[in-house]
Amino acid sequence: MARTLGIGIIGAGNISSTYLKLAPLFKGIKIRAIADINSSAASARASEYGIEARTIDALLASDDIDLIVNLTVPDAHFDVSKRILGAGKHLYSEKPLTLSLKDGLELQKLAERKGLKAGCAPDTYLGGAHQLARKLVDEGEVGTITSGTAHVMSHGMEHWHPNPDFFFRPGGGPILDLGPYYIANLVNLIGPVRRVAALTSMATPTRTISSLPRKGETIAVTTPTTIQALLEFESGASITLSASWDVWAHHHPNMELYGTDGSLFLPDPNFFGGEVKLAKAGKKVKPVKAWAHPFGIPNQKHATGMMANYRTAGLADMAAAILEGRDIRCSLERALHGVDVMVSILRSGEERKFIDIKTRCSRPEALGIREAKSLLKKS
Ligand SMILES: NC(=O)c1ccc[n+]([C@@H]2O[C@H](COP(=O)([O-])OP(=O)(O)OC[C@H]3O[C@@H](n4cnc5c(N)ncnc54)[C@H](O)[C@@H]3O)[C@@H](O)[C@H]2O)c1
Repeated sequence: MARTLGIGIIGAGNISSTYLKLAPLFKGIKIRAIADINSSAASARASEYGIEARTIDALLASDDIDLIVNLTVPDAHFDVSKRILGAGKHLYSEKPLTLSLKDGLELQKLAERKGLKAGCAPDTYLGGAHQLARKLVDEGEVGTITSGTAHVMSHGMEHWHPNPDFFFRPGGGPILDLGPYYIANLVNLIGPVRRVAALTSMATPTRTISSLPRKGETIAVTTPTTIQALLEFESGASITLSASWDVWAHHHPNMELYGTDGSLFLPDPNFFGGEVKLAKAGKKVKPVKAWAHPFGIPNQKHATGMMANYRTAGLADMAAAILEGRDIRCSLERALHGVDVMVSILRSGEERKFIDIKTRCSRPEALGIREAKSLLKKS
């Protein structure tokens, strides 16, 4: 097989520009074409980034495409991913992989039957900050992690996204939209989840869009927007996860993990960088000196300053894994486990009981400085 995979994209919306901007940093992948149900969206992105716009059918039938990235809205993920695998292309999907475990398992079977590989975002846990936390955990700095807290709370997405409807439909909501980042990072640090329980609710039945171009439009909320979940891990660790789009302000940190020999404080798993802090037993909390991890180096201007953004690292790792015949870090097995955990959290809210998680997965291999550099064009 060639040392570079030809990549196509289906879904030319908001996040496609991030993939198109960042993919050229990485070895082993070349984005050749983009398609969308809305052909003018595909043409606009294609001309912006100097690639081809094709129809979805033409992209699926293209000989120069080995792998297709599914960047459609969550409730289209399953159908589009099924078509990608059905067409004989490897699949990399944006999160969430699917909206039900049943659909995810069907994709897994299809990929196996076709001898194809599938992977799924999020890849932010491959960032310099989260991999530093992983190194500290692996080196035993906090001993055995026994408990922790995670908070992802704000007042929603209708203030910035041009088409925020999907966030408030089944498949959206803070748990399926932002939960993947938190669960993937917890699996990276602690391993798989055994059972969950949750209380779920929504503050209001509608939301008013305040972003352009649909400012003032009202949209219905048909999925919980506040979720208080309890996660018990195979390791025995118990973590509380609060996810909400009904909170104007709060003082909770994104993630804290408590171990037998200390505590670890992590930045937002939705981002690649940030400061990691550590408190050894009986000692004060101290920032951990940043390491020279390439996926922690700030490379993008944001309102709050420069930030590290290496989205597409998961896709590049998947391409390298296919070419090298090794395990994919952002693998289908881990994405399926994430879906199982998230839908079980929502089900627990409806059924008012603990839910056992059916799927299992291993922790992904750590991505140290050397491994991260090996994914980049310039090392
Ligand atoms: N926007 C972000 O910052 C962001 C960040 C990380 C992940 N994501 C994830 O990426 C995915 C896309 O998000 P987005 O913000 O780009 O959404 P978006 O609404 O801006 O774009 C989605 C695109 O998919 C197209 N589409 C919808 N159904 C389709 C179908 N059946 N076939 C082909 N095309 C179809 C739409 O026409 C649209 O152009 C979501 O799963 C989201 O969770 C988004």
